Amino acid sequence: MSKPVLTVGLIGYQFMGRAHSNAYRQVGRFFDLPATIRMKTVCGRNEAGVRAAAGILGWEGYATDWREVIADPEIDIVDVSTPGASHCEIVCAAAAAGKVVFCEKPIGNTLAEAEKMAEAVRKSGRPSAVFHNYRKAPAVALAKQWIEEGRLGRIFHIRSAYLQDWIADSDFPLVWRLQKEQAGSGALADIGSHIVDMARHLVGEFTEVCGTMETFVKQRPLVGSTDGKLGARAASETGEVTVDDATVWIARLGGALGTFEATRFALGRKNLNRFEINAEKGSLAFNLERMNELEWYDASAPEGAQGFSTIQATEAVHPYAAHYWPVGHIIGYEHTFLNLVADAVTAVATGARCEPDMEDGLANQRVLDAVERSAAGRSWVSL
Ligand SMILES: NC(=O)c1ccc[n+]([C@@H]2O[C@H](COP(=O)([O-])OP(=O)(O)OC[C@H]3O[C@@H](n4cnc5c(N)ncnc54)[C@H](O)[C@@H]3O)[C@@H](O)[C@H]2O)c1
Repeated sequence: MSKPVLTVGLIGYQFMGRAHSNAYRQVGRFFDLPATIRMKTVCGRNEAGVRAAAGILGWEGYATDWREVIADPEIDIVDVSTPGASHCEIVCAAAAAGKVVFCEKPIGNTLAEAEKMAEAVRKSGRPSAVFHNYRKAPAVALAKQWIEEGRLGRIFHIRSAYLQDWIADSDFPLVWRLQKEQAGSGALADIGSHIVDMARHLVGEFTEVCGTMETFVKQRPLVGSTDGKLGARAASETGEVTVDDATVWIARLGGALGTFEATRFALGRKNLNRFEINAEKGSLAFNLERMNELEWYDASAPEGAQGFSTIQATEAVHPYAAHYWPVGHIIGYEHTFLNLVADAVTAVATGARCEPDMEDGLANQRVLDAVERSAAGRSWVSL
């Protein structure tokens, strides 16, 4: 019997557009999904750019206005991979048209937007997915499995950091990620939202936060476009950076204590996303730079034989691993998107709830909002 077809329209074709396109193209070659994916339309505002992207990324056609994608009756899933400022309008319109929405993170630029978007999706009665892809790394999924099986017992701490350094140079231009109206917030929204998602997923809901934010470089050279590309720089003109370069916060979540750090000023750290969980029966640690590995300290090991061991999460018994290569043949960043798309498409085809979905996106945004309010008020904020 032939499988049902799920037809996708993707809005945005640069960084995440490429990652998502690759996932749609490849996922059926690794997973036996209950539906076939048809990559119908990719959308961008620049016709020459989006036409070229359609060819390179494997889309049947292209559009230059996202409204065309939503109006297309053949399209089942609208994937929103644009900067945050456009998410709310596109997601709400897609949901109102009865489409399934897949959306990049953080879902909105403000909590009010996120509430509106979650409500629109709820009203549509359709499933949704949010691209918090790191929880789909096999080693992170293994940590989740062990926590759910009770192998860690009570969790005391989560210590999370997402560290980058790409704007530490004060000559780096004012791209969209450094503008509040485009990005919502800076390091907090962009990378802090990922560590919020992993912490919620592994440890539980945030109940209180206390944070502080800093913008180290307040003026930067203007760029010719807000498209994420550097464009032509206007000679000596500068503009104000309106987001945080770094945000740190402490939190109570799921009965545990958490520390969180999101910065783009950690020189030498290109994309270090790590956490350590300390619990009653042992500790777990993950580091994206060694993403196939999970470190495990087993407190029940005999005296004299205790210490962290490194588990390579590539065995057939490990989450997602059986879909790829023989044991020890490692996978990479792009596979986190394949795993997420596999789960999301399966959920859409079977009527199950996809995780993470818009409700997770909303819960995430509540934490980001609370951290911002805490930093502004220099006090603890309850959720
Ligand atoms: N899941 C992750 O790990 C991850 C990583 C990076 C970015 N993101 C998120 O993905 C989203 C996009 O980020 P990016 O890095 O891909 O940005 P990008 O600048 O590389 O690409 C943005 C794309 O959106 C298009 N676009 C912008 N406005 C549009 C509009 N009105 N209509 C149609 N197309 C439009 C641009 O032309 C471009 O193709 C953001 O929400 C970001 O936070 C997530």
